Amino acid sequence: MPAATPSSSPEFVILRELLEHESAFVSGSVLAEKLGVSRVAVWQQMEKLRGQGFVFEAVRSRGYRLVRRPAGLNAALVVAHLGARARSIRLLCLNEVDSTNDEAARLLAAGRPAPFVVLARRQTRGRGRLGRAWHSADNGNLYSSFAFRPRLAPGRMQTFTLWMGVNICELVANFCQVTPGLKWPNDLLFDGRKAGGMLTEARIDADQIRDLVFGLGLNVNSPASAWPGELARRAISLAEQVKEPLDLNRFTAALIGRVLLAYERFVDGDYLENFADLWHRYDVLRGRAVTLLEGEQRHSGTALGVDDEGALIIRDERGRTRRFRAGDVTLEKGS
Ligand code: BTN
Repeated sequence: MPAATPSSSPEFVILRELLEHESAFVSGSVLAEKLGVSRVAVWQQMEKLRGQGFVFEAVRSRGYRLVRRPAGLNAALVVAHLGARARSIRLLCLNEVDSTNDEAARLLAAGRPAPFVVLARRQTRGRGRLGRAWHSADNGNLYSSFAFRPRLAPGRMQTFTLWMGVNICELVANFCQVTPGLKWPNDLLFDGRKAGGMLTEARIDADQIRDLVFGLGLNVNSPASAWPGELARRAISLAEQVKEPLDLNRFTAALIGRVLLAYERFVDGDYLENFADLWHRYDVLRGRAVTLLEGEQRHSGTALGVDDEGALIIRDERGRTRRFRAGDVTLEKGS
């Protein structure tokens, strides 16, 4: 079973100190004291970090200064950036995995205590909704899965992905100053181009959810040229939208904090008070002509938003409204 990164690991403590002091020096003896180890042991930890792509300046009598950090996903950096509330989360950061959702499900089935987060630099079998593949190259994007054991009635799950979507939009808006839209039920978009997708999978006992995996794929730093074929036209990354690269590790830490908080509010149930209003703030379908594919059946009409249970409301041309809990939606051209 892969080991999780505990927030008290020496790398985390050292990095946190150095990040807090930005470009200033931190003395080796201060680090040694914080960790309760010798200065030689601190030096050994610094060597380990150097092996991961960190560059430190070391000056006798002044200590260490962080001058470069790895641009790619780095577990120690993510943990070092986590806010106090999220610091106890167990985090697995893998170079490669078939699917972070599958890995999280396997670990849950093996009895690993939840919550925990699985991150990967690359997936070999990343999955989307309806059995679609999720392109998952090692190109600065985020592949993440959050594992929970919610002990809720299965009926409560209807709004889970939508609620998470709203929270992720708010996080992106705060962190990047650009606001994505939500396309029911699980897409994050900028101007019709897909920046992210969510995949929630639950194992359900008779009257209770046994466990739940919330998967999020977010195009963070991939350049437009990184997309193969059709995707070049249909996908977009946050960096392309913001027009500069993002600090993936800091963003990932902020995301973890936000998802954990959103999960707590979901379990408490108080989110329902303003859920539909929040959804409407980001909803890209509302008021537009859409077609929903439900199995073999097509339903066309105007999207009116979602109800409190997360169902998409569509009014057809005869004025009848219908609610859909599942389906694949396309926007009609020119709507
Ligand atoms: C979709 O748009 O259909 C959902 C895409 C979800 C992709 C993410 S990437 C991390 C996690 N692992 C997976 O295999 N899928 C989800």
